[in-house]
Amino acid sequence: MATKVVDKTARLTIGRKSVDLPLVCGTEGEQAIDIGKLRASTGLVTIDPSLGNTASCFSKITYIDGEKGILRYRGIPIEKLVAKARFIDVAYLLIHGELPTYDERRNFSQLLNFNSLMHEDMRHFFDLFPRNAHPMNILSTMINAMASFYPNVDLVSVVEDIDSAATRIISCIRTMVAFVYKKSIGEPLVYPRQDLSYCANFLNMMFNSPVRPYEICPETVRLLNILFILHADHEQNCSTTAVRVIGSAQVNLYSTISAGISALSGPLHGGANQAVIEMLRAIHEDGDIEKFVRMAKSKDNNFRLMGFGHRAYKTYDPRAVIIRRECEKYLAFRKIDDPLLDVAKRLEEIALGDSYFIERHLYPNVDFYSGILYRAMGIPENMFTAMFALARLPGWIAHWKEMIGRDTKIVRPRQVYVGKPENKSEIKLPKAIFTI
Ligand code: CMC
Repeated sequence: MATKVVDKTARLTIGRKSVDLPLVCGTEGEQAIDIGKLRASTGLVTIDPSLGNTASCFSKITYIDGEKGILRYRGIPIEKLVAKARFIDVAYLLIHGELPTYDERRNFSQLLNFNSLMHEDMRHFFDLFPRNAHPMNILSTMINAMASFYPNVDLVSVVEDIDSAATRIISCIRTMVAFVYKKSIGEPLVYPRQDLSYCANFLNMMFNSPVRPYEICPETVRLLNILFILHADHEQNCSTTAVRVIGSAQVNLYSTISAGISALSGPLHGGANQAVIEMLRAIHEDGDIEKFVRMAKSKDNNFRLMGFGHRAYKTYDPRAVIIRRECEKYLAFRKIDDPLLDVAKRLEEIALGDSYFIERHLYPNVDFYSGILYRAMGIPENMFTAMFALARLPGWIAHWKEMIGRDTKIVRPRQVYVGKPENKSEIKLPKAIFTI
């Protein structure tokens, strides 16, 4: 990927030796030291365990300014996308770099429709999971299994026809999420309909039933589009990095995405949306918000305010700004009085006025209010993170597409070994139990 080399270098002095390391510059002016030749010229490596100071790649997909609270997909601010675009427009934008034309959108929608049925044989898998299995575990298994069910999963075929592969995963996962839910409540599965938009289809598959026809609410569809758009990509987060790392070994796209889903399920990442609701409920039942704030600040336990803090944002997460606003609007529209919204607002107010959170720049993130919205839509709590996965697919696919190619090098970091030095004595093992 073309990069702009800055007319400056960073000089690194080690003892009496100095090396000049080139600086590279991104579109928005952020500069990075290129250490590509560091080991060859000095024998040294760098160490940065959680990669907080490391740009792991050049990327043209998403831009974040964590100090100013800016998030843009392909140069377009999320606020503009949320106001005008639908989720599938944004999926196309992320994967292809431009918003679709009328024809491109029609073709993309058609492919989403054609690919919305998962292979019928895969349905048997759903019977084998325990009823209470977590949807994220089911999803990562099922997406991995897709590699055995569909032809042309080799890299060349997928890259040449990225739209088919992308729409198959994006569309099938929606069907799977709805199937997981229907299965968990023992209701018959609802198949996708070709006359409905992506989000409306999902709601219909989730909530329609032969005895209780579901009336699709345009406001809920609008809101789901917003939530999905806001979750669609977030540059080099943990799951996207997992996708890029695993993809670099030329693993097929399905298995690569399956790994992304597993990474997302963690409570410090996408799993936080479920953890937030569990925390808000615990606070509501307990009644003592201050106690939870004290616990979050204390070093005597591992409790954190879920939905607070972010590696990239040192100000209010711009996605949380929109979600909080939409949350209040939607609950008012549906005449829902959710006490957890009051708890969340009060908790935010207390935390944002507390020096612990101020000094550490801890603000609500995307997960803080999203669960309250999903609850209001009727989405069960253990499916919140699956909703996140559904929405993040275009981002993962876009990053995989950007990363994969002839010049892709396998990601293989170094380490600093701190284990035992060489053991020079004879090794001793207990007597073998089996003779053969
Ligand atoms: N509550 C209380 N203290 C916190 C929190 C929190 N939510 N987040 C960070 N801190 C403290 C942390 O204890 C540390 O304090 P000290 O300097 O005294 O040791 C300081 O703030 C820096 O924290 P960190 O763990 O070094 O920060 P990080 O950038 O490695 O972690 C994070 C980012 C999101 C994992 C973390 O803020 C966190 O655990 N938040 C709660 C979980 C959460 O909401 N996750 C969703 C993230 S957004 C969506 C996504 O990524 O999918």
